[in-house]
Amino acid sequence: MATYEIRVFGDPVLRQRSAEVTDIDEALVRLADDMIETMYEAPGVGLAAPQVGVQRRMFVYDVGEGPHVVVNPEIVESSGEWTYNEGCLSVPGLSWDIVRPKQVRLVGVDLDGNPVDLDADELLARCFLHEVDHLDGVLLIERLDAEQRKEAMRVLRRRALDTSLR
Ligand code: NI
Repeated sequence: MATYEIRVFGDPVLRQRSAEVTDIDEALVRLADDMIETMYEAPGVGLAAPQVGVQRRMFVYDVGEGPHVVVNPEIVESSGEWTYNEGCLSVPGLSWDIVRPKQVRLVGVDLDGNPVDLDADELLARCFLHEVDHLDGVLLIERLDAEQRKEAMRVLRRRALDTSLR
């Protein structure tokens, strides 16, 4: 197994919609293994393929019960509201209180091609919503309210400037 470098804010790959997976082959299984290792090394509770530069609809997660992989995931139901201090490995060192649905139902397939149908609440639901957003090219910054976003962009711009001056 190997680890990937995680793409960070400013990388255009994070802003593009990923393509459906049509073949679950050896290369995809290897990618999933490497993504799990990358997620643990970071460490984080979820990682989507575009975050390692691969525009395929797949993400890995582990909210404390072992690693899982979902291919072609789709949120088919959502309800309630839950505020959680959310961060992202692609926007390192920052987090915000973000309101999203409290419960979701996620469908997709696993690496054997078997259907996955999961009801999730709170942290797991948050993880699913966040990772599916990545597959649609959406970063958590787009889920902030106007005031939070203004502050976030100020911090990120300053950070980009510091990097370019280094
Ligand atoms: Ni993220």
